[in-house]
Amino acid sequence: MRVADRLALVTGASSGIGAALALRLAGDGARLVLTGRDPERLQQVAERTGAKAVVADLAAGVDTLLDALPARPALVVHCAGVGAAGPLEELSPARVDELLDLNLRAPVQLTRALLPGLRAERGHLVFVASIAALGVAGEAVYSATKAGLRGFADAVRIEAPEVGVTTVLPGAVDTPYFGRRGRAYDRRFPRPIRADRVAEEIARGIRRGSVEVVVPRWLALGAKVHGAAPALFARASRRFG
Ligand SMILES: NC(=O)c1ccc[n+]([C@@H]2O[C@H](COP(=O)([O-])OP(=O)(O)OC[C@H]3O[C@@H](n4cnc5c(N)ncnc54)[C@H](OP(=O)(O)O)[C@@H]3O)[C@@H](O)[C@H]2O)c1
Repeated sequence: MRVADRLALVTGASSGIGAALALRLAGDGARLVLTGRDPERLQQVAERTGAKAVVADLAAGVDTLLDALPARPALVVHCAGVGAAGPLEELSPARVDELLDLNLRAPVQLTRALLPGLRAERGHLVFVASIAALGVAGEAVYSATKAGLRGFADAVRIEAPEVGVTTVLPGAVDTPYFGRRGRAYDRRFPRPIRADRVAEEIARGIRRGSVEVVVPRWLALGAKVHGAAPALFARASRRFG
């Protein structure tokens, strides 16, 4: 899909990958509606991109955002998300709900509401999942939300052939994500990549109509092993993390 002069909605646009993608899409000529929770950071990105800014807590519901849309978007990028690290038993029930509500319920509800417009526009959907969709120890709920998102995207792709659907599986990206999830990124390898590199790969995926974008690309090997030999993947993941 070509984004020039099309209306694009980006969630999670006040920070990290979503902010980098907003800048990239604006550079490609898209008209933008950006949403996030922090009014100041969101406004800063909106001013740099000429976007309409909509402050909304998507974990609490999607109606505020839907009511504020000026027209039906041709491109919808689901980027808002939070993580949670630590043993499953130590995660509070409220935190579990927050992850499910923001990472999975909100994109499902938004897609449901916006799909008729996307079909009519022959538009495009992007779901920013994670390589954690394959299953990461200490991130069970986060992994479940991202795997759910990936499965949802796979189904919508088949159900709505007029709409392009791209799922994005990033590895570690250098954003405030790790500080917010409650545990810093402490691995020496792989090194976190820059958010603008992810944005570049997403923009390419939209242009080409890619089904799945794995970034950095070598992580696609993990996805292949997971698909072909899940027991081997689990053993290797336990051993190497
Ligand atoms: N960073 C990584 O290593 C990594 C790897 C794989 C996948 N991802 C995924 O990439 C996406 C973007 O993450 P990021 O790395 O860019 O993290 P980030 O910098 O923390 O950005 C997260 C975005 O989500 C928004 N958000 C959080 N809670 C929200 C809520 N309740 N309602 C509405 N918006 C909310 C934030 O808005 P405010 O700041 O305004 O609250 C922010 O714009 C997430 O879905 C994440 O799971 C990240």
